[in-house]
Amino acid sequence: MSNSGPARIPRHVAIIMDGNGRWARQRGLPRLEGHRRGVETVRTVVDAARELGIRCLTLYAFSAENWKRPGDEVSGLMGLLDLFLKRELDNLIKEKVRLRTIGRTDALPANVQRELARVQEATRRFTEWNLVLALNYGAQSEAADAARAYAEAVLAGREKPAELTWEKFSRYLSTADLPEPDLLIRTSGELRLSNFLMLQLAYAELVFTPVLWPDFGRADLVAAVEEYGRRERRYGATTEQIKAGAR
Ligand code: IPE
Ligand code: IPE
Ligand code: MG
Repeated sequence: MSNSGPARIPRHVAIIMDGNGRWARQRGLPRLEGHRRGVETVRTVVDAARELGIRCLTLYAFSAENWKRPGDEVSGLMGLLDLFLKRELDNLIKEKVRLRTIGRTDALPANVQRELARVQEATRRFTEWNLVLALNYGAQSEAADAARAYAEAVLAGREKPAELTWEKFSRYLSTADLPEPDLLIRTSGELRLSNFLMLQLAYAELVFTPVLWPDFGRADLVAAVEEYGRRERRYGATTEQIKAGAR
């Protein structure tokens, strides 16, 4: 890490990439053009995150609710995802980035599922850098899926309800082997979570920026990480306790 970079680097950054549609509308362009530009931002931000030393980056790319959008926008987004995976495979291997997904990917188009499987397989040996794409993801259905899997484990005699802790339950979430996000960024000025990682964000620092996702750049990521560095994470304790612990 160079001296000019932010002092405290979050281990895991999660981003709600929002504002592609408004970016396009402001320019009189079709919404899909905004998404196309948004994909360019993904490349920039993946590189910048790695340069900053952020080992895990989770991007909210398609929510479980985004199926409600017009059919041509949904198929356009799926096409862009397919293209992104094809185009990024070599880069991810070169940069030793492991690609993972969270969300119900089995409902994605077959060609996208194929590309995802291919990229995940080709990058699964990498341990240092993680790029997690949230696809057809919803925190509420994730919680329901986890509860179902846990209940099945109880029925099979592998778990005892009396012994259930958050620690144990979190192993049934799709993020089981990832650290909880330290920093959540949402672009485009919306102040909500839109069903993203609600349990895992329990103690994340939240940074909201008015910048639309296609305009988000390296400097915006650095600014968010610097903002994170200025926050005091107390986890329920007092400032005095935190200071004493830091000494
Ligand atoms: C985010 O941009 C991309 C996805 C949700 C897939 P939007 O498409 O939500 O952009 P706005 O919110 O309409 O501007
Ligand atoms: C959240 O953005 C989902 C993604 C960024 C993929 P939306 O634009 O779908 O969220 P709402 O509908 O404004 O809450
Ligand atoms: Mg939006």
